[in-house]
Amino acid sequence: MPQKNIGLEAIETASIDEIRHLQFQRLHKTLHHVYHNSPVYRQKFDQHGVHPDDLKKLEDLCLFPFTVKNDLREQYPFGLFCLPIEQVSRIHASSGTTGQPIVVGYSKNDIQTWAQVCARSIYAAGGRPGDKVHVAYGYGLFTGGLGAHYGAELLGCTVIPMSGGQTEKQVQLIQDFAPDIIMVTPSYLLNIAASIQQKNIDPTSLSLRIGILGAEPWSEAMRDEIEAQLAIDAVDIFGLSEVIGPGVAQECIETKDGLTIWEDHFYPEIIDPDTNEVLPDGEKGELVLTTLSKEALPVIRYRTRDISCLLPGSTRTMRRIQKITGRYDDMLIIRGVNVFPSQIEEQVLSMEALAPHYLIEISEENNMAALTVHVEFLSNHAQNNVQHVSRELADKIKNFIGISVQIAIKEPGTLPRSEGKSKRVIDRR
Ligand code: DLL
Repeated sequence: MPQKNIGLEAIETASIDEIRHLQFQRLHKTLHHVYHNSPVYRQKFDQHGVHPDDLKKLEDLCLFPFTVKNDLREQYPFGLFCLPIEQVSRIHASSGTTGQPIVVGYSKNDIQTWAQVCARSIYAAGGRPGDKVHVAYGYGLFTGGLGAHYGAELLGCTVIPMSGGQTEKQVQLIQDFAPDIIMVTPSYLLNIAASIQQKNIDPTSLSLRIGILGAEPWSEAMRDEIEAQLAIDAVDIFGLSEVIGPGVAQECIETKDGLTIWEDHFYPEIIDPDTNEVLPDGEKGELVLTTLSKEALPVIRYRTRDISCLLPGSTRTMRRIQKITGRYDDMLIIRGVNVFPSQIEEQVLSMEALAPHYLIEISEENNMAALTVHVEFLSNHAQNNVQHVSRELADKIKNFIGISVQIAIKEPGTLPRSEGKSKRVIDRR
């Protein structure tokens, strides 16, 4: 049983039965809400031959149709909203890599729910009232900045709304304002860490204690690298605009064993993406999320394309998702082998001579996909033998992942650096 803890909300230590009961009630209400307030959902349910009253138990959710990114795109901008626009108090949007952006809306209550799950996430990450939180996620239409901001404020922290970019200034403010926590993408934090190093600042002299990092996949090797470089605890935060933004699931600092999904607001399923069947807990597949309390834009069985599995609760009763190290959309198929950028990342980071930055380029050679991994020497290793290091990395990738790749080693500091979500793959085919 999870310990009672004064800083936790009652629901975080509730029994599984209590949580399931609450989920059922909220799900029932949400299904009715979308059916009665969204012609799009009503039509989808009708076409699928289901009615909200068909939900007799939680597992019946599998009778309902999925929602996919395209449903939101087709309804651009507000077509899937379930409240009149006058009752929508905030709009965010995710740029998306291709096509029409996705627009999401929040009622006043949604904004409160979001702040609450973000406050809970920051607490689970080790943040406490009175901490100073430097937010380096982008502000604006992206959900990262404002999501983190409202959560930190609600928890009783002092927020430094720095947003992304202006790396020199980030470092200056970290020195001057002495934050305890930084909330930022892992790739941008590495960039900030490099700037700290360039200025010969001793990271242990800085006030930072915790990094709450997310918005992109990052490997365990990346965690080790960041924790070592900055002498902080690096914990994972997950979320997506379509569901709410950051704060859907959060890793607890004491265990760092996957992310507790805030099941009182988000109901998770894992499905086989090919057969669409719901998989039992513990099996890996596509994460599907249903919102249980959203008003302006509830989503029913939203297919995230993120790959994970459901694990039993550890520090909390609610279940965890395994750290997400890839999306089906990012999977590269190289001569029949499925490869994720995070697998390459682990191998690059295992090389002492190389900087923790990389770019994967895919081209076509003799009608076959060929993969080049661009990496950089660390500045104090720039005299290393290029051929030797290239061969060592190529061998590791061959042995651990099973594909042959070209390695291109660059001068230190020459690969593009991230100021938010990093772009790891360039496809030239
Ligand atoms: O990235 C929300 C967010 C902001 C999460 C700040 C965490 C921190 P989107 O721009 O809609 O929303 O992108 C969502 O990013 O489906 C995942 O593929 C990926 N993603 C988000 N967090 C993680 C994470 C925000 N911790 C998409 N690990 C999601 C791996 C993540 N991937």
